[in-house]
Amino acid sequence: MMHAVAQIPLVNLQRQYAAIRPEIDQAIAEVVGRQEFISGKLVAAFTKEWLAALNTPYGAACSNGTSAISLALKGLGIGPGDEVVTTAHTFFATVEAIHAVGATPVFGDIDPATYTLDVDTVPVTSRTRAIIPVHLYGTAADMDAVKALSDSHDLKVIEDAAQAHFAAWGGKALGTIGDAGTFSFYPGKNLGAYGDAGFVVTRDGRVATKIAKLLNHGRETKYTHDLMGENNRMDELQAAVLRVKLRHLAAWTEKRRAHAHAYDARFLLDGFKVIKPYPKASSVYHLYVVEVSNRDETLAHLQANGIGAGVHYPVPLHLQPAMADRGGKRGQLPKTEAAADRVISLPLCPDLTDEERARVCDVFLAIARP
Ligand SMILES: Cc1ncc(COP(=O)(O)O)c(C=O)c1O
Repeated sequence: MMHAVAQIPLVNLQRQYAAIRPEIDQAIAEVVGRQEFISGKLVAAFTKEWLAALNTPYGAACSNGTSAISLALKGLGIGPGDEVVTTAHTFFATVEAIHAVGATPVFGDIDPATYTLDVDTVPVTSRTRAIIPVHLYGTAADMDAVKALSDSHDLKVIEDAAQAHFAAWGGKALGTIGDAGTFSFYPGKNLGAYGDAGFVVTRDGRVATKIAKLLNHGRETKYTHDLMGENNRMDELQAAVLRVKLRHLAAWTEKRRAHAHAYDARFLLDGFKVIKPYPKASSVYHLYVVEVSNRDETLAHLQANGIGAGVHYPVPLHLQPAMADRGGKRGQLPKTEAAADRVISLPLCPDLTDEERARVCDVFLAIARP
């Protein structure tokens, strides 16, 4: 008789829910019992709690991490005719948000050590108005270099911290260093809602007020619309879930770090390339990424053994079909393209057990080549 192979998913949300089920169920039941779903007290409470947790003064809860970026751009006055520099080694949302406000995305290459924007490769022109460093995998971009560039060229800085809840640079929470910072609470994120949700933080109270209006039909009061806005609100059910999960985030983050360091220790011994954060960075390992030269074979072997691996991300943004009319060419961003061909993400979440992690290592090391 064949034995079913125990599955180890990339992220085990079922197990997370089982661990906090009474708190979550009660929070959801309260919202449903009140029948207040939009613009209620829980979004306001979560907004306060998330800002306090990040130790930053202003911000607004919104509908998802993509709208968070376009709201930040609009809030800072970036629009048609402006160039916005970012990385092509990220989720597609980063460039969609730039496009959504009518600005033109321009790409720099990455530093292969951290997979984040290498500021020395950023093409700045007279039209460049903003830079979006992406703290990919929960690891900081070089914020000192970003600041030096933005200071010398008068650029707005928007940190895409969609994968970097509670990560830091020199002790400051990522997202709170630039002019604005954006978060995604997509369910699988380190802090994940039970649906779509996001957040924008900013150091400028006036920008925060503008963003809060933009995401709620351009209004502050019920019947007066000061701006042409949109509906990009977070809803009460998401805020209820996020408030419960926020209480656990610090402990969950420590568990992620412990797993990532244990993976590192095993893979470095065998000569694999893993993420090497900058000395000033404190990483939160949204994803555990390692490079291999035989990816297809490795993915197939992991899958055959019930291990959920992923690739974040296989096609750099300048080579995506939707960007074809912008003239992106293979060879343009050599380090980005090399990383896209080699990265693999292994199971990592706070609820992974040490035994599961050890099995992932054994299965991976049996086939993967550096
Ligand atoms: C780096 C990055 N930026 C932006 C986003 C967009 O967030 P959302 O899916 O909440 O719109 C995501 C996640 O999906 C992301 O990983």
